[in-house]
Amino acid sequence: MNQEERQGVGDIYQESTKYRRHAMPVRLLEISSRPSMYKTYSNPVKVVTLPEAERQGGMGLWDALLSRRSERRYAEKPMDLKTLSQLLWAIQGVTASMGSYLLRTAPSAGALYPIETYLVVNRVEELDQGVYHFQVPNACLELLSPGDYSGRTAAAALDQPIAAKASVVFIWTACVNRSKWKYDERAYRYIYLDAGHLCENLYLACAAMGLGCCAIGAFYDEEVNEILKVDGKEEMAVYLSSVGPVG
Ligand SMILES: Cc1cc2nc3c(=O)[nH]c(=O)nc-3n(C[C@H](O)[C@H](O)[C@H](O)COP(=O)(O)O)c2cc1C
Repeated sequence: MNQEERQGVGDIYQESTKYRRHAMPVRLLEISSRPSMYKTYSNPVKVVTLPEAERQGGMGLWDALLSRRSERRYAEKPMDLKTLSQLLWAIQGVTASMGSYLLRTAPSAGALYPIETYLVVNRVEELDQGVYHFQVPNACLELLSPGDYSGRTAAAALDQPIAAKASVVFIWTACVNRSKWKYDERAYRYIYLDAGHLCENLYLACAAMGLGCCAIGAFYDEEVNEILKVDGKEEMAVYLSSVGPVG
């Protein structure tokens, strides 16, 4: 059987989650059973208030598109907290509200925002090293696990040293039930699209601010999930990106 004839799990998924004009799934959406729209940790080690994100200046969009590249060389010097705050705003900043929905800088299927952002902080001024969660509604950081996670993160990223050398590694997880509530199994398509939007926003913001950024899709899933202490079933890592001053 050649590759074109073989039906792998991806082929089966793609086929079985197609929308077909005369066979559209019918789903009654119960607002009362809608999963929580964002994650907040009730007992973080510490909550870090972020400086207000700058929303002016920097390179123009067209130059940022032209100069964006995946950068894998990072300087030893730390990133400052205001810069990190600006990057977080670029990927998940709240720009409007609509009822209980907090609309953001990046689009999301059904405005369900299944993606959560975690940071492995290696070198950022005013921040202890450790694993943080970005809490969207209050735009703050929740310190979950203090310590040097650079080696573990690089190892989990298929031993790519960029994850240890960067100032910070963004890790995006998906809370799949947020999307499944509306889209059932088709949710996974939208989850990966949503994560891609966040990463491209991050790339463009980094380009505009003269920072290096590199998407990381190659990682040992369970090792990354363990760093974040997520279960890998209802919430799992889907995408990473290293960021830092270029060196
Ligand atoms: C989904 C995805 C996964 C990627 N994974 C990695 C990775 O694990 N390691 C890496 O060094 N680069 C990774 N990259 C970066 C690509 O290698 C890079 O985008 C490509 O070579 C084109 O170069 P450019 O981004 O500089 O235009 C990834 C990019 C994407 C979009």
